[in-house]
Amino acid sequence: MDHFIVDGGRPLRGTIRVNGSKNAALPILIATLLTDEPCVIRNVPDLRDIRTTFRLIEQLGKKVRREGKTAYVESKGTLRTGAPYDLVKQMRASTLVAGPLLARFQKVSVALPGGCAIGMRPIDIHLHAFKEMGAKSTFSHGDVVLTGRLKPRTIRFRFPSVGATENLMMAAAALPGQTTLRNAAREPEIVDLADFLRKMGAEISGAGTSVIRVRGAKALHGVVHDVIADRIEAGTFLIAAAMTQGDLFLDGAREDHLKAVVRALCASGASIREEDGGLRIKMSRRPKPVSVATAPHPGFPTDLQAPWMAYMCLARGGSRVREKIFEKRFIHAAELARMGAWLRTEGSIAIMEGVPYLHGAPVMASDIRAGAALVCAAVAARGRSVIQRVYHIDRGYERVERKLRALGAAISRVKRIPRLRTA
Ligand code: UD1
Repeated sequence: MDHFIVDGGRPLRGTIRVNGSKNAALPILIATLLTDEPCVIRNVPDLRDIRTTFRLIEQLGKKVRREGKTAYVESKGTLRTGAPYDLVKQMRASTLVAGPLLARFQKVSVALPGGCAIGMRPIDIHLHAFKEMGAKSTFSHGDVVLTGRLKPRTIRFRFPSVGATENLMMAAAALPGQTTLRNAAREPEIVDLADFLRKMGAEISGAGTSVIRVRGAKALHGVVHDVIADRIEAGTFLIAAAMTQGDLFLDGAREDHLKAVVRALCASGASIREEDGGLRIKMSRRPKPVSVATAPHPGFPTDLQAPWMAYMCLARGGSRVREKIFEKRFIHAAELARMGAWLRTEGSIAIMEGVPYLHGAPVMASDIRAGAALVCAAVAARGRSVIQRVYHIDRGYERVERKLRALGAAISRVKRIPRLRTA
């Protein structure tokens, strides 16, 4: 198992290129199940979750070849119609195969995801929508089996779930007739998936708003597509740069995808400018306290809540973070406290009182974004940190240590935890 050793306290300076978006690439790779023609997907990040998705669609009958950042997906024959538990438990997004497979083959079996570190995360919104479109569901040995010929309908989601919106968009793309999704998620990854499905032959309007209309087609085509830049990776680096009082240019980062985060960073005292196809951030003092509440896009992203909390632990005063999307997304709080942060949580609210500096400590990543928060804290902290369970971070950030080293951070990946000096 890998660990990071970080000697913190150096400002991040320089330029890095933002990766392709993990959360956009996952549904797009799964959407290739909608056609038997070859698809070429470019700007695909090299991440654990992406490799799991390759395995998933290969198990279902696709052939995937990867060359650098490009994935070539081809058909090998008839597709299978089930996502097994061993893959779903590794990556919940595996449940997205339900939409395309059910719409095409009138049958799909998907393992129920179960709980995870940040909460229950059920898929009832997806299932409810499939039922409204005419599917029948039965449960057997931990799997949900959906059967039936879907019919285009108007669906109103009780919450703008990103996954449910993607699942239903993919199903609707394979159905002639109009499906309308109300209270749909508005994330940039939804817009990217809509672009992909449109190129395949579906008519889609309203992606990026809360009402999406999809007029599907019986036969969809193979396409070439470039995945959008990862706004969460970009946001994490913006926060890390602000935390270390650095000067960083993020090539490919898009302000229109990060408005709430840019607003909060500017309110904390950072200067952020759009230049040459990217974003430059400069920060030269301790941040002012800025409270945020997470919300579906275009609100403050839950995936940047943990790094933001780490940042606010260094603010000149007190601030709060309210987590409104996931029920248990504060596991990093106790780890930040080990680094000298003053903070406490009360239900869905975290209350921070900024300290002048954090100190290095041995800490443990519990999920992707909690891990990212610890990386931000460790590069800003005085002294040495050892971050354990780096595999969580590897799910969402491609070789983060290399990017940070290129910006001046002292971080290395090791197989064994070194003995830390004690006083
Ligand atoms: C996606 C992102 C994840 C991000 C999240 C919210 C991917 C692969 N993952 O996850 O990084 O944190 O959006 O922006 O794109 N819910 C239900 N029932 C459902 C579906 C969701 O109760 O059927 C709840 C979830 O438990 C959670 C909230 O709704 O509390 C948001 O979930 P959702 O928007 O579906 O997130 P994901 O698609 O899982």
